[in-house]
Amino acid sequence: MNKVLVTGGTGYIGSHTVVKLLSAGMEVLVLDNLSNSSKEVVGRIEKLSGKSLQFFEGDIRDRALLRSIFERHSCNSVIHFAGLKAVGESEEQPLKYFDNNVAGSIVLFEEMIRARIHTLIFSSSATVYGDPGYACYQESTPLSPMNTYGRTKLMVEDILRDLKKANPEMQIALLRYFNPVGAHESGDIGEHPFGVPNNLMPFISQVAVGTREKLMIYGGDYSTPDGTGLRDYIHVEDLGAGHLAALHSLSENNSLITVNLGTGHPYSVLDMVHAFEKASGKKIPYEIIGRRPGDLPEYYADPALAKKVLGWEAKLGIDRMCADTWRWQQQNPQGYS
Ligand code: NAD
Ligand code: UD1
Repeated sequence: MNKVLVTGGTGYIGSHTVVKLLSAGMEVLVLDNLSNSSKEVVGRIEKLSGKSLQFFEGDIRDRALLRSIFERHSCNSVIHFAGLKAVGESEEQPLKYFDNNVAGSIVLFEEMIRARIHTLIFSSSATVYGDPGYACYQESTPLSPMNTYGRTKLMVEDILRDLKKANPEMQIALLRYFNPVGAHESGDIGEHPFGVPNNLMPFISQVAVGTREKLMIYGGDYSTPDGTGLRDYIHVEDLGAGHLAALHSLSENNSLITVNLGTGHPYSVLDMVHAFEKASGKKIPYEIIGRRPGDLPEYYADPALAKKVLGWEAKLGIDRMCADTWRWQQQNPQGYS
């Protein structure tokens, strides 16, 4: 049976993926230090999947812990979500990000190799592309991240490309996510950032539920159809399915897979506001203010390679993204607390 260690498995994308892994009959171990998630998630995952998992509260930088997990449990693959992801914080505290995301990943990979675990999926990001000068990103688009967070993702990708050369038996998937949004259809698990949300969708849903007064739209003067920024939002359930497809694909090919996980359909900030108003029946007050430093006007995935290599494509559209986020937000206005 497939036994998977999921690092960061109580986090936003991890929790949705773990429900899918358990539902597909896999055994799952979760390692998370709870720096950006809650232990409450474990019970919710178990309820949704009808299966139990083994949870280890701990850090990927804790070599002794990883060693004991791998010695006591015969895992055959790792899905590595654990990481810090706030762009602004990464610029202010670069060493924290290099230590957690890069040094932490190195400890994990060393212990995997020691335990002869050869299959790995890594959470990369569209952020690795930077600003190539055009909006539709293919996997061959040059890699040039514009912030510290993005550089940690590119460094880990580079490490894994070298690791694959040195250890041809390894099977590695680098999945570059675009903008994950949405929640489980039940409304039992979803995203609840600690503090003020940096990302658009959690901010909109907190305005709709009344926690925040209004949305600040960063820039209304971009050369886009309505002047606001365009992004490729992808439902977290589709992302979770992409990880299952990647595990399946790796089991058949001894390869290094690098793919974009996006829909290929960009939406503007105002499109998202209007779709959320429709899904929630609430008015979303907003004010257009200046551009956010570091933001690009527009980018989206070319998802063709993921379809070809993984046989995967995103299925859920903007209405489901908003309806599922709203259900989660209404049922859990304070997140998991
Ligand atoms: P998240 O913060 O909800 O989940 C990450 C989890 O990792 C959290 O539960 C956190 O407690 C845990 N964690 C962090 N550092 C750890 C460490 N040293 N040891 C053990 N656990 C640790 O974030 P998410 O949105 O679910 O993102 C998952 C992964 O996907 C991250 O690597 C992120 O960089 C990447 N990613 C996310 C997005 C996005 O917009 N959400 C986009 C592209 C890539
Ligand atoms: C941001 C990060 C990116 C990361 C991604 C997913 C920056 C510069 N980039 O991307 O590295 O991979 O999140 O975690 O932080 N917006 C508003 N008001 C808000 C929030 C956002 O108008 O309160 C706009 C933004 O200007 C953008 C769009 O909404 O046009 C999406 O923003 P966001 O959700 O933060 O994602 P990205 O900017 O794509």
